[in-house]
Amino acid sequence: MAIKIGIVGLGFMGKMHFESYQKIKGAKVVAFCDVDAKKRDGDWSTIGGNIAGSGKKVDLTGVNTYSKLSKMLEDEELDIVDITLPTNQHLDATLEALKSGRHVICEKPMARTSAEGKKMVQMATKMKRKLFIGHCMRYWPEYEAARDVVHSGKYGKVLSATFKRLSLTPTWSWKNWLMDFKKSGGAALDLHIHDTDFIYHCFGKPKSVNSTASGFKKGRLDHITTSYNYPGNTTIVAEGGWDLPAGFGFNMSFNINMEKAMLQWDGVSDMMLHPIKGKSKKVKVKSGDGYINELKDFVDAVKNNRAAKYITPEAALNNVKLLEAEMKSALTDKRVLLK
Ligand SMILES: NC(=O)c1ccc[n+]([C@@H]2O[C@H](COP(=O)([O-])OP(=O)(O)OC[C@H]3O[C@@H](n4cnc5c(N)ncnc54)[C@H](O)[C@@H]3O)[C@@H](O)[C@H]2O)c1
Repeated sequence: MAIKIGIVGLGFMGKMHFESYQKIKGAKVVAFCDVDAKKRDGDWSTIGGNIAGSGKKVDLTGVNTYSKLSKMLEDEELDIVDITLPTNQHLDATLEALKSGRHVICEKPMARTSAEGKKMVQMATKMKRKLFIGHCMRYWPEYEAARDVVHSGKYGKVLSATFKRLSLTPTWSWKNWLMDFKKSGGAALDLHIHDTDFIYHCFGKPKSVNSTASGFKKGRLDHITTSYNYPGNTTIVAEGGWDLPAGFGFNMSFNINMEKAMLQWDGVSDMMLHPIKGKSKKVKVKSGDGYINELKDFVDAVKNNRAAKYITPEAALNNVKLLEAEMKSALTDKRVLLK
């Protein structure tokens, strides 16, 4: 029996999830919900994004469409509700779906604030349902490969690392919600969170953070750079910004320097390992993409009633808390110690 999925919010990420599920054996999107009548009619031409082409006319045979989540929950037999709504709507939709007895996958960031995220964790526990937050970097082949190299310990301790995530300005979102800091949390909570999440996942919780950011004057946050400080003088730096010209597009990259070798990925070429002794070599990276890999894991977790491989609701909540510390540091121009 296929795992039945209903998607809420058919924008950039909803479309990405819709298309990804078509490639996952045993998963079936049976319904979606969107306030936009054109999207419910299969006209997805207005959907934009920084890492995929725009939408087109889609054949929705076999997929029921709704304008309200409550109606979809009432009418459909669903195993999973997949929430790809603007971030400020994650809390209400997640609570409603969990209360209806469905498992939930919700896009990152878990919620606009950690107080909201905490309510989501509590509801999942209360309803004994699975809650998976789409922290896709944990499933992204290059990042998975890097984590495995670091965690193997073969090349010694991590001395330093840098991560970058740069994008054109996202002007394509529904009612321009991404450019509204109160709804999206700006480039910090929306874009840079991918590196915050991976850093937490790969290197553990930092002792403190120092951040600087720009864009506050416009009531936005378009660019943030954070030093994550670890015991033993290890500092990891991540820069995330969406204030680049359209021609730049999008790029993510990292360098991880360990005692005996350095890992390098520029986001375009092969990932390389440069040892202190010996020749540089290509690092083996699995095929596929992080979206399909994470959704596959969650579908299988629901099917077999097991935990997801790499992410818990608590870890997703910790990410929002860490981002709040980064934003506080940027606003106060001070180092913020993490409790
Ligand atoms: N994992 C990733 O790499 C990644 C990438 C982009 C976005 N995201 C996340 O995905 C989420 C959605 O972002 P997006 O870029 O797809 O946004 P978007 O603006 O492209 O899409 C939002 C969609 O929700 C619909 N919508 C709004 N309110 C609704 C409601 N109450 N009921 C039903 N439909 C409603 C809109 O019509 C629109 O189709 C955000 O949380 C964002 O942070 C994640």
